[in-house]
Amino acid sequence: MTSPRRKELDETGNKAPHEPLTAYYSDEPGRRLWLRAMFDRTASDYDAIERAMAFGSGAWYRNRALRSAGLARGMRVLDVGMGTGLVTKEAVAITGDPSLVTGVDPSPGMVGEAHLPIGVETRIGTAEDLPCDSAAYDFLSMGFALRHVSNLAKAFDEYFRVLAPGGQLCVLEITRPAHGVGVAALKFYMRGVVPMIARIVGRKGESVELMRYYWDTIEACVPPAAVIAAIERAGFANVRRDVELGIFSAYCATKPAA
Ligand SMILES: C[S@@+](CC[C@H](N)C(=O)[O-])C[C@H]1O[C@@H](n2cnc3c(N)ncnc32)[C@H](O)[C@@H]1O
Repeated sequence: MTSPRRKELDETGNKAPHEPLTAYYSDEPGRRLWLRAMFDRTASDYDAIERAMAFGSGAWYRNRALRSAGLARGMRVLDVGMGTGLVTKEAVAITGDPSLVTGVDPSPGMVGEAHLPIGVETRIGTAEDLPCDSAAYDFLSMGFALRHVSNLAKAFDEYFRVLAPGGQLCVLEITRPAHGVGVAALKFYMRGVVPMIARIVGRKGESVELMRYYWDTIEACVPPAAVIAAIERAGFANVRRDVELGIFSAYCATKPAA
């Protein structure tokens, strides 16, 4: 018989982090197609918009978050949802060897815009079905892509599978603030200012829509407790969430050594 705790974790984790947003697509399969097409078509705008919005998700933040999650020289890294490689580059800087770092993303357009040091391997694939061997990595990162997976439990099961015993997990994500004033301020910035920035610095009209979608996914996303429950359910230990400014979450965990 399934224990109440197990049942609760299965219910929180065994689905997408948010319900389909039907203003953009009609259902879960539609979401995957829409997302991939959007990221493919707007990939050339991504770095410029990210730089302009500079919302803590710059190179400095990514580098520091990876280090504080335990990334160090010589580790083998898998960066999932690599996009244009903003986390991947920091992983290379920290490990000191591009050949130790592999990036995965479902969008060939995003990967095509990644200007990475020679030696970094890139693969097309999703978090829920990683094109990677089991127990092959010492560290797994995911930057600002968790909201896009179609099944949290499957993604964390895959992360557990590909990490070697003792391996570290670090998932960075923007989280809806806990209080009303914080929500209103972030919503004003993300729903009002960021799409305007996208209109100014981007060259693709769809970048504006993707940036609106950005906030809508943050607002609709399951709370941090559900993400933590899904990580624990996959078998990870020492699960913790480091929070900065009330919105930048770094979910860190360890695959038990044996
Ligand atoms: C906002 S970008 C983040 C890129 C990069 N990690 C960063 O820190 O800037 C989100 C990325 O998640 C990818 N993505 C969408 N669905 C995914 C999935 N199911 N598994 C892994 N990555 C996914 C998208 O293609 C996109 O490149």
